[in-house]
Amino acid sequence: SPCLNINENGHLTISGCDTTALAKQYGTPIYVISEEEVRRICRSYTESFQKYYNGNGRPIYASKAFNCKEMCRVVTSEGLDVEVVSGGELYTALQAGVSGGRIHFQGNNKSSKELELAIDNDVGDIVVDNFSELEKLNKIAGEKGAIANISLRVKPGIDAHTHEFIRTGQVDSKFGLDLESGEAFSAAKRALKMDNVKLIGLHCHIGSQIMEKEPFVHAAEVMLGLHHRIYKELEVELEQLNLGGGFGIHYLETDDFIPYHEYMQEVSAKISEVCAKYGIKLPRIYIEPGRSIVGEAGITLYTVGNIKEIPNVRNYVAIDGGMYENPRYALYQSDYTCLIANKANRPADYVATIAGKCCESGDLIQEHAHIQSPEEGDILAVLSTGAYNYSMASNYNRNPRPACIMVSQGESRVIIRGETYEDLVRNDL
Ligand code: LLP
Repeated sequence: SPCLNINENGHLTISGCDTTALAKQYGTPIYVISEEEVRRICRSYTESFQKYYNGNGRPIYASKAFNCKEMCRVVTSEGLDVEVVSGGELYTALQAGVSGGRIHFQGNNKSSKELELAIDNDVGDIVVDNFSELEKLNKIAGEKGAIANISLRVKPGIDAHTHEFIRTGQVDSKFGLDLESGEAFSAAKRALKMDNVKLIGLHCHIGSQIMEKEPFVHAAEVMLGLHHRIYKELEVELEQLNLGGGFGIHYLETDDFIPYHEYMQEVSAKISEVCAKYGIKLPRIYIEPGRSIVGEAGITLYTVGNIKEIPNVRNYVAIDGGMYENPRYALYQSDYTCLIANKANRPADYVATIAGKCCESGDLIQEHAHIQSPEEGDILAVLSTGAYNYSMASNYNRNPRPACIMVSQGESRVIIRGETYEDLVRNDL
């Protein structure tokens, strides 16, 4: 990531802040997010919407990647909308001052309470996942004398090549209405007859950490097919089409994926082509990236604890965090780049298994990591942890969640306080 550098002392820096100084000031473990980098990426997304869609549409930040009030403020100040997927994420965005009209509410099983919160706050786009939700929402909106703007979550039947737990577009998925069997079309037909919902668009999301562009181009084509069928048979031209997120990022230097402006270029070309073929107006286009906005902008800093070198087996380097603050290796065997932040200019010639402090053997952050020769007390940095780390953290083993620090131009500030032991018992009776 361009926000990372090495200074004259051989220390890793992020947005001009020395990581060892951050570790000293705030303690470890800590998450550190570069505000500059988040803003730079947001801008390049909004610029490509200008370029490829004449500004007819915009990126939406999928806040599940990293949601807190300051992050909502930063992305919306860059002109992005916010996607939320639970009452909690919705509440956070509202508390951050995001207006309902800029919020898109996803989820495959929203509760009545969550739907009510959305309607009470004029959420501009409730993405309906299934028939039962459609009926429930129409009823709730009716009771409140409201008309809810909705989109339909569609399963376009596309198999993106990524880890099976984060693949979502295929037929066997818990998300959305099936396109192939006509389920999605029937839902649109039903929605258009309802008094208290207004169908404004279609949505799909085919998966996450996708490295190729073909599945996105294919999804756009397939979704416009449904958009066209609704136009032809139901005589309604839907306003918007949301093609979801899923753009890959670098976890390792060798990770090879298509830069997203190439997706944007190819997808927009396909959209224009298909609209021209069908003779339909270009709908307002949205995409919904999470990981690619914040993933590479974030790192985690730890202090190295004990080192266990088991001859002919492996070298365990223990850190003061673990699966409670980054469960991604335990869940998906995710790759990460690790380095000793205070020795960043030295050769990475030591092979380590980075072990957390939780009471289970699978609590690893990385295996076969090439790092600089470690000593107890060193600062270990794990890169590309901005997305799905804090947001997936837990209190396993009653470990308090670490603080999150935002950095910009050599300055740092706390944006989420670290939890204390008192926080851990706060709700205990
Ligand atoms: N829109 C919808 C409806 C989604 O379900 C997701 C991700 C996104 C947008 C954003 O996708 P992104 O651009 O971040 O790939 N915990 C997993 C990732 C799960 C992604 C779930 N949905 C991980 O740590 O890899």
